[in-house]
Amino acid sequence: MAIISPSILSADFVNLERDMGVLKSAGAPWAHVDVMDGMFVPNITIGIPVVAALRRVTDLTLDVHLMIDRPIRYIEAFQKAGADYLTVHLESDTPENIHKSLKMIRDLGMKAGLSIKPGTPAQACEEYLSECDMILVMTVEPGFGGQKFMADMMPKLQWLRRQLDQVNPKCLLEVDGGVDLTTAPICKNAGAQVLVSGSAFFKASDKADFVKQVQA
Ligand code: DX5
Ligand code: ZN
Repeated sequence: MAIISPSILSADFVNLERDMGVLKSAGAPWAHVDVMDGMFVPNITIGIPVVAALRRVTDLTLDVHLMIDRPIRYIEAFQKAGADYLTVHLESDTPENIHKSLKMIRDLGMKAGLSIKPGTPAQACEEYLSECDMILVMTVEPGFGGQKFMADMMPKLQWLRRQLDQVNPKCLLEVDGGVDLTTAPICKNAGAQVLVSGSAFFKASDKADFVKQVQA
């Protein structure tokens, strides 16, 4: 069974507590939190205090996606805030610091995620595969919700699954961007196990049914 991680980027920021309840009652096990700094991506969203606030009102797995430059500076702060999975972008720092970041995330007791933008080949992840608990393949250019799904990213998932099966079979594969009821099966067929969905989840009139279908 797949896992859905609804992105709260499409939630009502005035009513985040209510919307965390919406995720929970729809049966979603995870909540995806998009952190942007206006440097790594051309948008600014939410940061550490909001993650800490969400932690106080939910027991869902907090899947925190850092779209920020040099995330190593903030790993400890996100751990204190209550992140469960902490994902950094491969493009956001030097290889040396990415290795250090993944280790630091695990040493602090969180699950370590590594994400790649659409322009980054899957092969770039190779040297990090054994250091990750999750690899996130972006299916849109990071920065905004509501963009069109890039089906041409699917071969990356297939390649990563094959490699992971050899060196780190427990590592999860996640997709993020443009996931809806039409594109979710395409992602799952290509090997995705965790599916982020922002605008489609919040637009769905029957969210419990949406969760059920995405996770089927
Ligand atoms: C985009 C974010 C996504 C976004 C997905 O940079 O990483 O998590 O919320 O939104 P949808 O599902 O609307 O494409
Ligand atoms: Zn995201």
